[in-house]
Amino acid sequence: MRNVTKDNITDVFLSYMGESTNPRLAEVMGSLVKHLHAFAAEVNLTHAEWEQGIDFLERTGDISDAERHEFVLLSDVLGLSSLVDMLHNTSEGTSSSVLGPFHITGAPALPIGGDMKGAFDGTVMVAEGIVRDPDGTPIKGATVDIWQTAPNGLYSSQDPDQDTYSFHGLQTTGPDGRYAFTSVKPVEYPVPTDGPVGELLNGMGRHAWRPSHLHYIVKAEGYKSLVTEIFAEGDQYLDQDTVFGVREDLVMTYQDMPAGSFPEGFALSDQVKDAYVRVDFDLVLVKV
Ligand code: BEZ
Ligand code: FE
Repeated sequence: MRNVTKDNITDVFLSYMGESTNPRLAEVMGSLVKHLHAFAAEVNLTHAEWEQGIDFLERTGDISDAERHEFVLLSDVLGLSSLVDMLHNTSEGTSSSVLGPFHITGAPALPIGGDMKGAFDGTVMVAEGIVRDPDGTPIKGATVDIWQTAPNGLYSSQDPDQDTYSFHGLQTTGPDGRYAFTSVKPVEYPVPTDGPVGELLNGMGRHAWRPSHLHYIVKAEGYKSLVTEIFAEGDQYLDQDTVFGVREDLVMTYQDMPAGSFPEGFALSDQVKDAYVRVDFDLVLVKV
């Protein structure tokens, strides 16, 4: 086509796509470009804005490496990660949620009742529940990969003062499907804002905060793996998570437990005399 105009360019683009070796790619790209053209036309995108956008993407790439996933963060704050996640979530089990960039593989084994708090300050939290199927049958031998920030709001990979695996643990359920551990009560924290995504949030008048949460990846033979997080009722950011990860069934309530009531069967059982909080949360997996 030699007579390309602003009104026909989208159709011209689509007409240039012939027999494809990858029909799904052709479908996705056709749709993406349709929306991209419509977006540019709708906002009457200027040359300067287009250049700014290209520069933004280049800088996002420049700052990204094996540890810093700025493109993933961009997808997260745009709500794309959560939307893709929800498009493929099944309603029967516990809802899934965003993985985030701070999961690390190889977490140390955490026995049932084990502790992740170590010497850190913070309110002691007992977290436990059953890994089960939607009918209530406990799942034996499920692995629960658990991670959270330290009380300073930083993940171990962001904080030179923490060990690699601090606040990371991998637990395996017994015949009763139970997982149980102690840690500190999670805190709210901002996603990294020292890169292009931080500038973008600021420019849009958005804050960077996530409500306090605990991350879980739950896996069991014959079941669909679950990547999720649980959030605390009452958190000030619960209704404005900057990465859109909160789902109604992922909101839990802490029980305030009085001094002297710490349960048996935990690594900290003989050590915690003060008040603490507990959270009971079952993790429900669906069959593959
Ligand atoms: C997180 O919860 O670890 C997280 C998720 C998305 C972006 C940044 C952090
Ligand atoms: Fe997190």
